Amino acid sequence: MGSTATVRTRAGWALSALYLRRIARPRLMTPDRVVLEERIFPSLYRDPSVHRILFVGVSEFTSWYPAIFRTRRDVAFETADPRSDAARYGARGAHWQTRFEELRAHRPPYDVIVLNGIFEYGTDDEDEKRTSIAAAREMLRTGGLLLLGYRDRGPVADIDVAAVGASGFEEAPIPGVGRARYRTEHPNGHTYAAFSKP
Ligand SMILES: C[S@@+](CC[C@H](N)C(=O)[O-])C[C@H]1O[C@@H](n2cnc3c(N)ncnc32)[C@H](O)[C@@H]1O
Repeated sequence: MGSTATVRTRAGWALSALYLRRIARPRLMTPDRVVLEERIFPSLYRDPSVHRILFVGVSEFTSWYPAIFRTRRDVAFETADPRSDAARYGARGAHWQTRFEELRAHRPPYDVIVLNGIFEYGTDDEDEKRTSIAAAREMLRTGGLLLLGYRDRGPVADIDVAAVGASGFEEAPIPGVGRARYRTEHPNGHTYAAFSKP
């Protein structure tokens, strides 16, 4: 990336960071959110290869996420959620009121797909989980990133991440964290795992 673009990215992130610290509401300051909002998103923001992000499942606590990326004009931050009562929390003009798997026919390819907090929150049985991982794989470009966020309480986790690795993905460093899997300090064992599509 040339120096003008670097300066622009830095300036843009400075604005987004200010927004995050001073304006963004409502924020859930739980350890899992802090990792997502203060480590993962800034790293994605600074990555010049990221132009399209699909964030799956929305709530009032995620409603300001699209604004983080607003100062990067070459990034589209899209959201999907089938619930009509959640639509108002989606990205303005880029929210799809549907299960994200339904977008696979007409929306790909994405650079990044984030499936955080959807397992056991609407994507529940093994078949749904498998289908969602297969859909994400189909919808990512080659080299694209799948970021999972799920509760891991010892022997019981919301999703079997070993199975994800075995379904055509390779483990990848979590942006801003540097490891393929990271268990946050949240008492529910909220963990992030990243995979790339080879
Ligand atoms: C815990 S909430 C919010 C999750 C949000 N991603 C976050 O980080 O807070 C779970 C939401 O995910 C949505 N959801 C679950 N499975 C989904 C799927 N396959 N496609 C789109 N939305 C889904 C549900 O409808 C629900 O509104």
